Amino acid sequence: MGLQRIRQAMAALCAFALAGPTTPALAVHGQTQTTLGRQVVLRADAPSVSPVHSARALYVLHCAGCHGLDGSGAAAARVPDMRQVGRFLRVPGGREFLIQVPGVMGSGLDDAQVAQVSNWLLAHLATDSVPSPHRPYEAAEVARLRRQALVDVGAARAALAQQAAERGWPVAPAL
Ligand code: HEC
Repeated sequence: MGLQRIRQAMAALCAFALAGPTTPALAVHGQTQTTLGRQVVLRADAPSVSPVHSARALYVLHCAGCHGLDGSGAAAARVPDMRQVGRFLRVPGGREFLIQVPGVMGSGLDDAQVAQVSNWLLAHLATDSVPSPHRPYEAAEVARLRRQALVDVGAARAALAQQAAERGWPVAPAL
């Protein structure tokens, strides 16, 4: 094979590699065969946020970054341990506080998702601290609480924590 033929073959290979992923005739089940292997077909209309349906997945994506997968928090980032957080439910205003904290209200989750992830964390991460009986949160309640933002989170928490401690149910110390 002469040098000229080799150059031609290389050029053809490069052209195929560049054009490969967009060749519709090769697309199989949303994937396409390219010189680099099988790849997903690019979609201009792909959603930018993948829809998530499980409460645990909501927690992992939207809360665990600060609170940790087990809810133990992060002292360095001043995120309190959430594993006893159900104790807030034992004092007036505590039920509202758990929804009105900035991490929840600013999460970008809708009312139903906030109710879902809050119910999940109480049931799975703070299990032993939740009083019985306990009424799970619902979307309508979250919608109502959204309209009453906390003015001073630290002061609200301190007042609730003091009441809880007085009743024999101390919550994690503020950080
Ligand atoms: C950017 C970090 C961050 C994210 C993300 C975050 N939080 Fe928080 N969260 C905090 C901090 C810090 C506090 C302590 C109160 C405060 O300063 O806001 C807190 C407090 C709380 C509290 C009250 C517990 C206590 O002891 O004060 C609850 C309940 C809570 N978060 C739930 C959630 C849930 C549910 C999510 C996900 C939807 C979430 N948080 C996302 C940082 C975060």
